[in-house]
Order: sequence, then structure tokens, then C-alpha cells
Amino acid sequence: MTKQLGRKVIDQLTPYVPGKPIEDVKREYGIKKVTRLASNENAYGPSPKAIEAMKEAVQNSWLYPEPTCRSLREKLGALYGLSPEKFVTGNGADHLITLITMAFINEGDEVIYSSPTFGSYRESTLMMGGKPVEVPLTEDYVYNLDGILEKVSEKTKMIYICNPNNPTGTILQPSQIENFLKQVPSHVVVVLDEAYVEFIKKENYRTGVDFIKDGHQILTLRTFSKLYGLAGTRVGYVMGSENLLAPLQAVRPTFEVNRIAIAGAEATLDDLSHSEDVLQKVQSEIDRVSKEYTALGFDVVGEHANFIFVDTKEDAAELSEALLKKGLIVRPCTPWGLTNHVRISIGTPEQNDLLIESIKEIKNTEVV
Ligand SMILES: Cc1ncc(COP(=O)(O)O)c(C=O)c1O
Repeated sequence: MTKQLGRKVIDQLTPYVPGKPIEDVKREYGIKKVTRLASNENAYGPSPKAIEAMKEAVQNSWLYPEPTCRSLREKLGALYGLSPEKFVTGNGADHLITLITMAFINEGDEVIYSSPTFGSYRESTLMMGGKPVEVPLTEDYVYNLDGILEKVSEKTKMIYICNPNNPTGTILQPSQIENFLKQVPSHVVVVLDEAYVEFIKKENYRTGVDFIKDGHQILTLRTFSKLYGLAGTRVGYVMGSENLLAPLQAVRPTFEVNRIAIAGAEATLDDLSHSEDVLQKVQSEIDRVSKEYTALGFDVVGEHANFIFVDTKEDAAELSEALLKKGLIVRPCTPWGLTNHVRISIGTPEQNDLLIESIKEIKNTEVV
């Protein structure tokens, strides 16, 4: 009954299924200790200074936050060498995707991206009456820029590029993105989703910040949820030229980012030594566990994020279910149509070892 009252598009939406909540696994499987390596969270947590700042901010909860996040934008500007006017903050990158779509997509407009990728591009497009146009990733599970260019038409309004791509952890070469940007017509808005960009294991890798400085008309999306460990606090931002940010400002709710999130994000930027430490730990764990998974017979396909994307060469849903029974949550890629692949977030060394040992146990049981 209620569904009929909703807009027609509601039937077409396939709501994003986040990593299974720890509480659900405890209840369903009767397990006390559950480890989640399914949502690409930062297992090391936020900076202790961010925690302190957020506790402090709670005391002023009765005051509305500063609507434009001026001081946070100044800190971001200083970090990247851009003016604070080139940033819009939001209640997580996910909500910024919704706002970007609200700001630019008219009914019938086409939005192109490669698939599989982050699900919000499709959902937000449909919600605004736009038409998602999906181009399969290349054979190497990389964003298919040539395929996307072939689909560009008068109807195209937006292109999403997820780099590194979720769920595959693969990246494009910056020169590929630059060549692509040169060929995209000016009626198309390019959104570069760089939620995981800090984890890319390449020296002097050019990112959206550089492309903006070069004068490209793009929006670049970032988040405090991954490297900075503030997924539960909800804060992200978009960088870009002011003409592209203006429509976004127009649809952005006034008090989009709460006072506690602002305090946490600002203190995070004041304590970058914490995130540098986290980055170093995550990257050394990626190198270590990749070898372990390879030894188990898996193919590690993508690893330029705080997760790895592996081909288990067997039914990944079955493996994930067997792991759930042991209290370990990973993300089978079956909903993306990849039956043998799993996306595994990088946890602490103890969590990673627990997962590897559990997979070994399951595989040994299979052989017996
Ligand atoms: C590619 C990508 N973009 C955006 C987001 C949204 O991040 P946030 O937690 O800031 O909403 C995610 C979250 O997993 C993601 O994987």
C-alpha cells in the first residue's frame, strides 16, 4: 500500500546492501565475537585527537553548526593548495553523490559509468529520472574509458569515474584520465570519485586535485570515511571549479554536516601523522596478505585501496557463508555479477590472520 504511494521510480531502485552488520551476524549465528572486513572501514580508527575534538564538540550540540564548514574548507584548501571556495562539504560522499545528481540531472539525461562499480551512481540517477548507461569494465577489471567515450551523445549529462574502483581496487593511469578529459564534450559533467585515492601505491600519482589545477572542468569526490576512519561520523567533500559547485550549493541542505563531524574532520587534518601511520600499516598489510591469498590459490586482482579484490576460483558466496558461520564478514561480489570474487577489507594484522586461518580451515574441510 505504502509502496504505491511512492514515486514510480521506487520499484526500479535496488537499495545498496552495506556489509552485514556485526549485530545481525551475532544474532543469526549465535556468535559472540564477530570481525567485519566487508565495508572498507579503517580498522585502526580515527586520530585520538579527532576523538577528543568530537567529545568536546558534543558539549555545543545545542548550537547549529556553521553551515558552510568554512574552517574545514580552509584546512582542506591549505592541504591541497586550492582556495576554500573550491570545496563543498557533505554528510559523507554518498550523500554528495545524491546532491550532485539532484543538482545536474534532468529527466531523461544519461549518466555513464563502468560496471561493476559503486552502486550509488545508478540509484541516484534513477531517483532523479535520469538514465544510467553502464559500460562493462575492461577484461582487467579497470574502468573502461574508451567504452564510455563511445557512449557519449547529446543526451549525456554526467560521467562517473571511480578511481580506484570499488569493488575491484583497480586504477587508471593518470595519463589515461587526462586524455579522456580532453575528449569529453563541454555539456558533460565528469565526476571523479576518489574515495580511496590516498591508498594508491604509486609515487607522484596525479589525482583530481592536479586535474582541477590544470583547469579541467571536473568534480572530484573525497571522503573522511576511509583513510581518516570517520565512516560513522559521515563527512565528505567535493572539489571543483566554482561554476560546477554553484548548482551543488543550491541543493545542499543548510546544516548538511553536523558540528561533531566538522570537529572530527578538522582535528583529523591537524593530525596527519595518524593517517600517515595508518596508511603505512594498511599498505604493508596489503603486501603481506596478498602473498598469503596467492599462496591459497586465489588471484589478487586489485589492491589499490584499503581492500583487496580477489578471484577465489570457486563459489565466493559459499565461502563467504562459511566464513560468516565463523564470525567473519567479507563481501562476496555476487550482487555485482561476479560469482567467484570477494572484496576483503584490510583489518589489523590479527584480524587479517584470523581471516586467512579461517579460509585455510574451510578449504581443508572441503578437501576432506
Ligand atoms: C567509491 C565510493 N564512493 C563513495 C563512497 C561513500 O563514502 P562515504 O562513507 O563518505 O559516504 C564509498 C563508500 O564505500 C565508495 O566506496
